[in-house]
Amino acid sequence: MSPPDKTILQTALSLDIDLPYSCQSGMCTACMGRCVAGKVGLEEEDALTPKELAQGYVLTCVGHPLSEGVVIEID
Ligand code: FES
Repeated sequence: MSPPDKTILQTALSLDIDLPYSCQSGMCTACMGRCVAGKVGLEEEDALTPKELAQGYVLTCVGHPLSEGVVIEID
């Protein structure tokens, strides 16, 4: 299975799922959420601290699902 081209944010918006976002390029962290199931690959993770990354935080605007059943909690 190759990862979908679209980001999690793009997919959510195309399905009318309302998610917070702003820059859409992995800079502002407005779209930050915590991955509680599945695996997410980030194109860009410089905006997250090592602690946030260790806690499973992801940026949906640069995140792609790498597994089935990805669940992301938005604070
Ligand atoms: S929308 Fe700015 S980091 Fe995702």
